[in-house]
Amino acid sequence: MLNPGRSCPTSYRYGAHALRGEPSLQAESLWIAGGLYGNPLALEALLEAYDCEHGRKALVFNGDFHWFDVDVADFGRINDAVLAFHATRGNVETELATPQDGAGCGCGYPDWVGDDTVQRSNRIIERLRATAARLPHTLALLRALPMHLGARVGDACIAIVHGDADSLAGWNFSQEALATDNGLANARKAFDAAGADVFASSHTCLPVLQCFPGGKVLVNNGAAGMPNFRGEHYGLATRIALTPAPNSVYGMRQGGLYIDAVPLRYDTRAWEQRFLEQWPAGSDAHASYYARIMNGPDYSRQAALRLTDRADRQAPETLRA
Ligand SMILES: [Fe+2]
Repeated sequence: MLNPGRSCPTSYRYGAHALRGEPSLQAESLWIAGGLYGNPLALEALLEAYDCEHGRKALVFNGDFHWFDVDVADFGRINDAVLAFHATRGNVETELATPQDGAGCGCGYPDWVGDDTVQRSNRIIERLRATAARLPHTLALLRALPMHLGARVGDACIAIVHGDADSLAGWNFSQEALATDNGLANARKAFDAAGADVFASSHTCLPVLQCFPGGKVLVNNGAAGMPNFRGEHYGLATRIALTPAPNSVYGMRQGGLYIDAVPLRYDTRAWEQRFLEQWPAGSDAHASYYARIMNGPDYSRQAALRLTDRADRQAPETLRA
């Protein structure tokens, strides 16, 4: 029996071993943007920044590119723009394309997220389903997307997931789980199981860049389409490359690999307007997200950058923050 918004359908589970195998992408610079959440201004900022990237490059949207875009025209434009690049399904796209009985939004929310938030998310996905139903061709495209992708940057194997190493909507790569010894131990094991040097994830809405022994790195971009830090108004994408990012909120170098959180600076007032047209005061998304859109979450860059885990006090070569 599923608890809508809390439990994950069994079809979400792939297991870390499924991430092994020949990477389908190879690039000198790999951009990963999860959690666009239907923000067309953040999308525009991302594509402009990515356009400035030279050399062999790839851009992957790792899920939840839809969420606030209940306007049919916005939904269609975002779908078309995202699917022109590499993309994986998040729980949002999965629950639009193949709704699972009793899954609700498919977020798999842990117990630190309140019931009111969970119920509002279940209602948001219902509204978004009504929008997507008006563009049936998009549902077939979303259904065909993979749940994860493998990439190679230099010699490094990058496992790109939405949730965590085991599940589309897993929370093991959340900053909250990685703040515990048990969470760090679980993540360390996942690198071996997946044969990965770097995990790139999203889904849990707050960013974290966590280093592990042996040069392994877990990078969660938080949200591309919403602010990620208190008082700061930009989304974040992850850039993994053989050269340093020209602008970076924080980042690190591991051997020849540069891993950066890249800011997506969009017009906050224009996005506020666009959001309110779709989700006015009193609506579910307004209650859950408006304060964050305007002020950022109660979280800081310093909290997101974790260059050591407690089992390995040795810092990586270079800190750039
Ligand atoms: Fe998600």
